[in-house]
Amino acid sequence: MAETTRHPFLEDLSKYRGAPPTTVVIFGASGDLTKRKLIPAVYNLAADNLLPPDFHLVGYGRKEISDEAFREMAADAIKEFSRRELSDDVWGRIAERTTYVAGAYDDAAAFDRLAEHLQEIDEKVGREVQPLFYISTPPSVFAPILENLGASGLARKYLGQPHHAKVVIEKPFGHDLASARELNRTITGVLEEHQVYRIDHYLGKETVQDLLVQRFANSIFEPLWNRNFIDNVQITVAEEVGVGARGGYYEQSGALRDMIQNHTMQLVALTAMEPPGSLDAEAIRDEKVKLLRAIQPLHPTTDVARAQYADGMIAGKPEPGYLEEAGIAEDSGTETYAAIKLSINNWRWQGVPFYLRSGKRMARRVTEIAVQFKRPPGTLFAGGGFDIATNTLSFQIQPDEGLSLILNGKVPGLETRTQPVKMSFRYSTTYGSNTPEAYERLVLDAMIGDGTLFIRGDEAETSWQLYTPLLQAWAKAKREGMDRYPAGSWGPANAEALVEANGHRWRQP
Ligand code: NDP
Ligand code: BG6
Repeated sequence: MAETTRHPFLEDLSKYRGAPPTTVVIFGASGDLTKRKLIPAVYNLAADNLLPPDFHLVGYGRKEISDEAFREMAADAIKEFSRRELSDDVWGRIAERTTYVAGAYDDAAAFDRLAEHLQEIDEKVGREVQPLFYISTPPSVFAPILENLGASGLARKYLGQPHHAKVVIEKPFGHDLASARELNRTITGVLEEHQVYRIDHYLGKETVQDLLVQRFANSIFEPLWNRNFIDNVQITVAEEVGVGARGGYYEQSGALRDMIQNHTMQLVALTAMEPPGSLDAEAIRDEKVKLLRAIQPLHPTTDVARAQYADGMIAGKPEPGYLEEAGIAEDSGTETYAAIKLSINNWRWQGVPFYLRSGKRMARRVTEIAVQFKRPPGTLFAGGGFDIATNTLSFQIQPDEGLSLILNGKVPGLETRTQPVKMSFRYSTTYGSNTPEAYERLVLDAMIGDGTLFIRGDEAETSWQLYTPLLQAWAKAKREGMDRYPAGSWGPANAEALVEANGHRWRQP
């Protein structure tokens, strides 16, 4: 049954409260993501009165944990990671409906026990409760979990009704095109597409959702949003952190898989897609896929640059290079930085390069989308010492969320001197600083059944289609072409060369 799901940001708030009674089951319940993001998200939804009536939480994992110990773990996670202090009143409401089921992910009998447990909850509540399965395990067990959801009948629970079973799947969604296709095949073997919520947590960020509103709720941008007025678009997703304790994972991943193929491409899609016909999830996702399909194949030398961080200083503190980090091979060919030049071959964007870059251990943490407009004709304020900048509209995704526009103005005085000036809007000054975390929004949307902020199967595959040949070329080249950049810098020389070859420069965010 295809659902029409309308994006709630234009809806009355009461829609938000419209999630049916739900039992959220977290697979991988003792894990890092559960503690840092999922439990705090559930807690903050409860604090905002956004959880449905008869909400239940069930942890699932291989470790033998009692209900009581799981509740304690959850309370500790809230104390440590929630944006709000733990209140006994709010937590008490969830704690009494929080339980734990122990079992392996490939154990069919354990899934039958889980099914019985959910049935008992329904009977206790006295109504059919929507099951929402959140797969928060390493990807190696995504498939057995899905298969057992199918075999136990849980995947089809209440199918045909709005409170049917729903499944949230964490990233990474495959590691190349073939594995993403394989995972999609496993999914479609047990679930219908409208039951599936593939996570890209960037879509849950307030500022990423604001991109749609800025583009389509303001009439001043659309007439300029094309190759006639825009010179280039630069998307920077820079992190200060290194790989930390995640060396094992990162060695198999790298910047392209970890950040570019998913999060950064979502920013590209939302920036460049055509206006959707409506705010329905499918209308928006159709436009995103159309845009991704219009991106030209990448040339492995002229369109890309990759590098690893070397030792350096961040905030006055010395940091080791990537090859010195724990769990990293001394001859590792994994990139911690990638820069890409995308060419979009459609009516709107042909000839406008989209430059993407993402790296760990860069000068500071910042994610921004900078839209650089063409220079005005050089007849009036060209030469003669006039200080004229290109107009740049910059969406500051994080931190210090906001929007700014660089204009050129006259410096007050008796002679005509120009100077670039910046108009800024900051979330913190307009809305205050207590904005919801991405996972709050995503868990809530999945409960409501709104897939707008999740990735559709064809979307994931289209992005992998673009990047898989590059990943294969890099795997073959090993360290050849791998540049270095000092920790705490804005990136390697080969990324500078990439944009300079087109007459551009990276903007300093
Ligand atoms: P963890 O490594 O903490 O694993 C989660 C749980 O899965 C563990 O507590 C463990 O529970 C079980 N598990 C761990 N390793 C295995 C294994 N080899 N085989 C079977 N079960 C295993 O993962 P995270 O919580 O960090 O991440 C979960 C998912 O979320 C991953 O897909 C990750 O990519 C994604 N993610 C994580 C982020 C984060 O910040 N942590 C950020 C963005 C995405 P038990 O032993 O009880 O079964
Ligand atoms: C995750 C990556 O998906 O996103 C991490 O696996 C990265 O390597 C993180 O640090 C960044 O997320 P955020 O929300 O802090 O920008």
